[in-house]
Amino acid sequence: MRLTYTSDVWWKNAVVYCLDVETFKDGNGDGVGDFRGLTQQIDYLAGLGVTCLWLMPFFPTPNKDDGYDITDFYSIDPRLGTLGDFVEFMRTAHDRGLRVIADLVVNHTSDQHPWFKESRSSKNSPLRDWYVWSDKPEPDDPSKVVFPDKEDSLWEWDNRSKQYYLHSFYKHQPDLNVANPEVRDEITRVLGFWMELGLSGFRVDAVPFLIENVDPKLPDPHEFLQDMRAFMTRRKGGSILLGEVNVPYPELVKYFGDGLGDQVTMCFDFISMQKAWLSLARQDAGPLADALRERPKPPKDGQWAMFLRNHDELTLDKLTDEERQEVFDAFGPEKDMQIFGRGLRRRLPTMLGGDLRHVKMAYSLLFSLPGTPVIFYGEEIGMGENLAEEGRLAVRVPMQWTPDGGFSQADPVREMPEGSFAPDRVNVADQKRDTASLLRWFQLLIERYRECPELAWGTYTVLDAGHHAVFAHRCDADGASVVVVHNLCDTAVDAELKLPGLEGHQLTDLLVDGTLDVSDDATVKLPLGPHGCRWLRASPPQIAPEDAGVMSQ
Ligand code: NOJ
Repeated sequence: MRLTYTSDVWWKNAVVYCLDVETFKDGNGDGVGDFRGLTQQIDYLAGLGVTCLWLMPFFPTPNKDDGYDITDFYSIDPRLGTLGDFVEFMRTAHDRGLRVIADLVVNHTSDQHPWFKESRSSKNSPLRDWYVWSDKPEPDDPSKVVFPDKEDSLWEWDNRSKQYYLHSFYKHQPDLNVANPEVRDEITRVLGFWMELGLSGFRVDAVPFLIENVDPKLPDPHEFLQDMRAFMTRRKGGSILLGEVNVPYPELVKYFGDGLGDQVTMCFDFISMQKAWLSLARQDAGPLADALRERPKPPKDGQWAMFLRNHDELTLDKLTDEERQEVFDAFGPEKDMQIFGRGLRRRLPTMLGGDLRHVKMAYSLLFSLPGTPVIFYGEEIGMGENLAEEGRLAVRVPMQWTPDGGFSQADPVREMPEGSFAPDRVNVADQKRDTASLLRWFQLLIERYRECPELAWGTYTVLDAGHHAVFAHRCDADGASVVVVHNLCDTAVDAELKLPGLEGHQLTDLLVDGTLDVSDDATVKLPLGPHGCRWLRASPPQIAPEDAGVMSQ
């Protein structure tokens, strides 16, 4: 593998930063974040080292699902700015070397979208078939209701046109019918429009719902994903689809396009994310190790997108009831912290009790896991949630820039947390000046992750570390090896690794000073402090220790 591949196949070891324009930075003093504010912060993002921004929906919306209910796919929510502001932002981002992707929310529209208004106007509407209608839908499977706090069915009766319409999510989000070729064409037009304005791809919302919940069923639902990807590649090679596909691994590989890799470029790894939380709760590496051992290999040029938290609830839907309860007990015991019976509406640092050492270890783990890390704004400074905000909005609080907030000069669109996670305790300005801060730790992790493409590109092996609390893995590519070790428990432990092929090598610590020697029988002993973590680059005895990538040019 050549280092130059990492620019062509840029997503494979990108660092993706998800943000909502609405809550990132207010540039015009009205309390709502906007593109002008975001553009002012581009140098902050570039300085952090992230390589790709993922913008949550920024389109006109009644905002009943925080923008995931769109009324116009071709323009900007006026509260966030204008198309002109968007283009200025894109230009500035590109100038700083940042790529930008955006949410593609085309499983559904808002019920206020002109298409739906037209569709529901009569059974004979030319857009009737753009949505999924039924005289007598199949009885609901309650387990398929995504938001059980607000909905009890996937179908809603439309009194005017006397049929039911399908809504996989809220009833104000009618499902588009991609079985209709006109709808597929329109979606392609949306992709083309934003790519023309500079986007490098899309985070595709709710992919399984998009291709499955249609009428009539598509003979091969995956063909639509292939068509989308092919279209994007024709228009702009190297543009990507990052899929929200929360299904078990065996089903998931189909979304990459089986062996071909011609559908979704990257899929979020919901399984190892959930198992990682179980491992953290148990202080036992087992669940995460098992998940990564079972995980299928993505097709060539495909990649897993790794995350610990995102803008939604921490979903634990793929754990057993008992396992989920363990995570609830450890990280969200109060009812108000739980949501939908399956998740937690909390951010990571509060779940880990604000213990900086623990938080730093968790993110070190994230950046070292094989795949492309995706972080949610504010994670880099350890922001907490505000449970006073409704539902999932608890984790979507305004970015904390300075001790007095710094998000807006007006009252912010959402309330910031109080107490130990309030802006005077957690903010960018202070952490920039503090070399021991989480922000500085993120900068280091990102720098090291980028210098170790083996982590994302290499072949990984989960190692037995001789202690149940230690998660250890090695990544090898082109004869270069990186070995990573994490202690999930809060006491010091000794790990012992077997590193076949690295007999007599030296391991250079990439996070702190120090080296270790691998014995001639390929063993290395590693003392780890409570929640200790080490990233180690191996170098052969005759070559001076390296602490940066050693791939060919
Ligand atoms: C998944 C998004 O992540 C979530 O925030 C949204 O509510 C649903 N899809 C519906 O668009």
